[in-house]
Amino acid sequence: MEKKKRSSFSSRIGFVLAAAGSAVGLGNIWRFPYLAAKYGGGIFLLVYLILAVTFGFALMITEIAIGRRTGLSCIGAYKALDKRFSGLGWLASLVPVIITPYYCVIGGWVIKYFADYLSGSGSLLAESAYFDRFIGFAGEGLFATPLPWFLLYVLLTAVVVLLGVEKGIEKVSKFMMPVLVILSIIVAVFSLTMEGALEGLKFYIVPDFSNFSGKTVLAAMGQMFYSMSLAMGIMITYGSYMPKESNLERSVGQIEIFDTAIAFIAGLMIVPAVVAFNGGDPSGINAGPGLMFGTLPQVFERMWMGHLIGGVFFLLVLFAALTSSISLMETVVSIVCDKLHWKRRPATVAVTLFVLLLGLPSCLGYGPLASVQILGMAFLDFFDFISNSVLMPIVAFFTCLLVGWVVGTKTVSDEVEKNFPFHRKRLFEIMVRWVAPILVVCILVGQLLDVTG
Ligand code: PFF
Repeated sequence: MEKKKRSSFSSRIGFVLAAAGSAVGLGNIWRFPYLAAKYGGGIFLLVYLILAVTFGFALMITEIAIGRRTGLSCIGAYKALDKRFSGLGWLASLVPVIITPYYCVIGGWVIKYFADYLSGSGSLLAESAYFDRFIGFAGEGLFATPLPWFLLYVLLTAVVVLLGVEKGIEKVSKFMMPVLVILSIIVAVFSLTMEGALEGLKFYIVPDFSNFSGKTVLAAMGQMFYSMSLAMGIMITYGSYMPKESNLERSVGQIEIFDTAIAFIAGLMIVPAVVAFNGGDPSGINAGPGLMFGTLPQVFERMWMGHLIGGVFFLLVLFAALTSSISLMETVVSIVCDKLHWKRRPATVAVTLFVLLLGLPSCLGYGPLASVQILGMAFLDFFDFISNSVLMPIVAFFTCLLVGWVVGTKTVSDEVEKNFPFHRKRLFEIMVRWVAPILVVCILVGQLLDVTG
């Protein structure tokens, strides 16, 4: 069969920014600060950092190397390594298939909030329960409901994917990622100037050892997966577009630094300000939508130039979310192209329609479909649970098994060492063979216990 030339990023830095764009997402901005606050501030940061440069490093280098070596998206890539593991490729590809639709629903909420700040109606957002009304479809007119915003967000993502790896993903990442860093620093500086913020800052960065427990490690590990876009085929796909002559290990190091730095800055933006807003009480930092879409607009309302900062904040969240949803959608599109031999355009159109369809229940799930619950969860929460808490640890476990014990770590290290020395090779080998599989099983058990208990 004639082999088509695979798309590729034009430069190493283009690859690093696109992969960092995938990693830096909603997970960094609303998940990380909350977890850090909940699990003892500085001690969580420390544990997270250690895990990122060991466990996260090993898994990320594995996935990118598999992608670059095989030049295939995840289904083909696992199969190319060992036929018996082709089922694992299917399982991994299921993760972005499940996540992309609901991620786009949240992305739609972000556009709506940004648009409200832009149009000057930011004060409305600060009304408590505004968010509930909005996602509950209780507003007046179609644009007061999440539906058109979801549609807009999906289309934005799809256009970039349609433009392709170099002209779409790389270009957008090269613009959005640096802007994201600058905007994050601006918002963090403003947040820290709020009266009472220093107390929150102390709470965020000074380790409280009495808060340390196995749960701290579990939470940090789970977050690391999510944050680094691991175990869902994304890094395999992006690896398959990585130029062969680029330094793989160095790129992974830079992606990690980017991702962790933005998570840390997000904490600076959010934790001190929210603690100050709550009169010094850190327990008000709740997880998920409530924090970003409920509490934060109220905090901005109290902040000097708060409407402007609110707008800037939601713009940066939008950039973070877009570069992630682009990578999620690209992963699915690349599977369709590889498996069905479709061209990029029809594949993107088909995937877009699918995302719209599957996103619909998540979009309506807190409103018209609120009565439908799966395992006691709304659609969006259920999809999040299945993908993050169940599928991702399973995929990670079998990936370690495949690389550490079946095909051998040489498969990865040979690829890394093509043109450059592999400095952390021993660490990688120990992590993939021994430490990572054990930790992953702990995450899976911990998360299942969490939901059933
Ligand atoms: N890593 C991105 C984030 O932190 O938001 C993208 C992502 C990964 C989204 C995993 C969702 C997910 F389950």
